[in-house]
Formats: sequence, structure tokens, C-alpha cells
Amino acid sequence: MNGVPMMDLKIQYQQIKSEIQSAIENVLEHGQYMLGDETLKLERDLATYCQVPFGLSTSSGTDSLILALLTIGIEPGDEVITSSISFVASAEVISLLKAKPVFVDIDPKTFCLDPKKVETAITKKTKAILPVHIFGQCADMDALLSLAERHDLWVIEDACQAIGAHYKGKKACSLGHLSAMSFYPSKNLGAFGDAGMLFVKEEALFLAARQYRTHGEYPKNFNHERIGLNARMSEIQAAILNVKFKYLDLWNQKRKECANRYYQLFEEADLLHRLALPHMATYNDHVFHLYVIQTPQKENLISYLTENGIGAGKHFPTALPHLTCYRSLGHKMGDFPMAEAFCHQSVSLPMYPELTYPQQAYVVSKIANFFKNHKLAGY
Ligand SMILES: Cc1ncc(COP(=O)(O)O)c(C=O)c1O
Repeated sequence: MNGVPMMDLKIQYQQIKSEIQSAIENVLEHGQYMLGDETLKLERDLATYCQVPFGLSTSSGTDSLILALLTIGIEPGDEVITSSISFVASAEVISLLKAKPVFVDIDPKTFCLDPKKVETAITKKTKAILPVHIFGQCADMDALLSLAERHDLWVIEDACQAIGAHYKGKKACSLGHLSAMSFYPSKNLGAFGDAGMLFVKEEALFLAARQYRTHGEYPKNFNHERIGLNARMSEIQAAILNVKFKYLDLWNQKRKECANRYYQLFEEADLLHRLALPHMATYNDHVFHLYVIQTPQKENLISYLTENGIGAGKHFPTALPHLTCYRSLGHKMGDFPMAEAFCHQSVSLPMYPELTYPQQAYVVSKIANFFKNHKLAGY
């Protein structure tokens, strides 16, 4: 075997090529290139799928988060509590609106925002909690929602990595007041460019968000009621997503099977004591956007896997509060011990629906070799 990539988007395209090409062709022919029937269908179907009354197509997960914050009226000086482990966008959007991201440490098992640590971070300025369903499983939403209710706070789910995941039998995106989704190409439901969706429970908020999405006006009448943005999804991306959405549950199922196979292979290789494999909380149904293991040998293991042609990633190398752009907040090493330990040890392994048993066996055999060599080298 020549190696195994971290993910392979081309295989999926080959499987549904003719459907995708005819969906694109259809848009090109009908000439409605923005906010047409494909977009409306996607909004309706995904809202139903995610068990939320309203879906609003957007240009990205990041823009969905910005729209969520604008819609609930986040203002300069407000505080929004979020996780210290995520892609930067989860916090960046708060800062862009001149509000303050208040970082809270993670649960060391799920890597999501730890509700036990949230209460002490709440101040008079706190307006919202923004948990991130990281790697494909939900944060402990009941605990967060009850805190939010007690303190009269909004809850915005960052579900960008978790389409199709369940929390206590309920869909990700159906739990908070608003939720943001990304269809970045590598996501479990990926467009062929940037795209996203905002899910909203209340109609009044949906109508406001829809105006913010298109320069503060809807419908188009040059009567701009709000200062908004251009955050629309293109009709071609919507048409592509309508084709791919039909396969989402099947692809998520295959990801779960890959995760089970990794477990079996690591067990057979007697490696369970050397690595921490992903933990799925009993209340969660995980959709494995990423498969992240932990080992103190992180850097050496990533180098070894890379030398052997295996895609091994760092999601994420730095906890958000320690990023250069947040230096001014004055956080010190040791302030977020769980997130820091996670960054120190996490390695993402290849994970995509079309990953085969021989490919996974190859990955695990190389990891077994790595640990054998390290033992011989006296580590
Ligand atoms: C957790 C999380 N939040 C937000 C985003 C931003 O989404 P997008 O890239 O579509 O803007 C991403 C995408 O990587 C993400 O993983």
C-alpha cells in the first residue's frame, strides 16, 4: 500500500458524478444563480432533518455564526462563553463584533465545553454560551441549557462538525436557540466551495437573520432596515448539497463503522494501553467528522506516519486562548489544563466514509510498528 490520505474527496465525487453534473447543469440552464428553488429546498429539507423550524442558507459556517450573534444583538463589550478547543472561527466571530470571547476549559473525555466550569465564567456582561460539538459529538447540552436558563443567556450551537449527530436522541442544531452549520468541502456534508446554514427556532429571529444575511433587506426592495452582510449561499452549491444530502446518513453510518473498525484493530494490536481512542459519551451518537487519538508521543508519531504516507493531522495544535491573536487577553499556560493537555497529545487519523479495512489495517500496523520501535529505543 502506498499510503492512506487523511481524507479523499475525489472518491465520493466519482461515485455521484453524473448526479452532481446534471444538478449543476440544471442551475446553469435555468439561470437563477442565487436564492432559487435549490436553496429553498435545501433550507426546508435540512431544517426538517435537524428538527428545527427554520433553516437559512449562508455562505459559510463562519458567516452563520456571525449572523447568529448579530441576530441576538451581541454588542461591543458583551461576553460570550465558548470552548477553548475549536477551529478559530468559533471565537473569531465574537471578537469581530467587538465582544469578548470568554474561554472555558474542555471536558477531557469529549473535548467539548465543560459545563461544570461554565458557571464561574458567567458575569453581568455575559450574553450567550457558544458550545462547539467538536469532531462530531455534542457538548453536554442539558447542563448548558439549564445554566443558560438560570442566567437568562442565549445558547448558540456551533454544530459545524456535527451534522447528523444526536444528543439524547435529539439532533444537533435542535438544542440551542440558534445553531451554525458548515458545508466546507471536508465536512460530513460538504459543498464544492464555501457554504453554511443557520438554524433558528423562533420565527422573529429567523426573519431578522434573513435580513442580516442580505445587507439588511428582505425581500429585495432597497429598503435596508439593518446593517448586514452579503452571506448568501450560491445556488450551485445548494444544488450540489441537495444531491449529497441524500447520502448523508449512509456516509455518517460508514464513518461510525470506520471508528468501530479502528477500535477492533487497535485492540487486536494490543495498543489500547498506549493510546487514548475517541470516547463517545453515553448520551451521544457521534458522527466522527474527525477521528482523534491521544498519545504523549504525538509529534514523533505524526512524523512517522507522514514518512509512511499516512495523513495524520493536528486538530488542534493550540488551544484558542493561547493563539497569537488572543495574546492580549493575557491567558497563561496552565489556565486551561485539559485543553492544553489535549493539544499536546492529539493526532487525527484518516477518516472518511470510503476508507477501507485494508487502509485502516495499514494505519494501525504502522502505529504498532512505531510503538515497537519506541519501546526498543527505550521511550
Ligand atoms: C467547529 C467549527 N466552527 C466553525 C467553522 C467555520 O466554518 P466555515 O469554514 O464553513 O466558515 C468550522 C470549519 O472548519 C468548524 O470546524
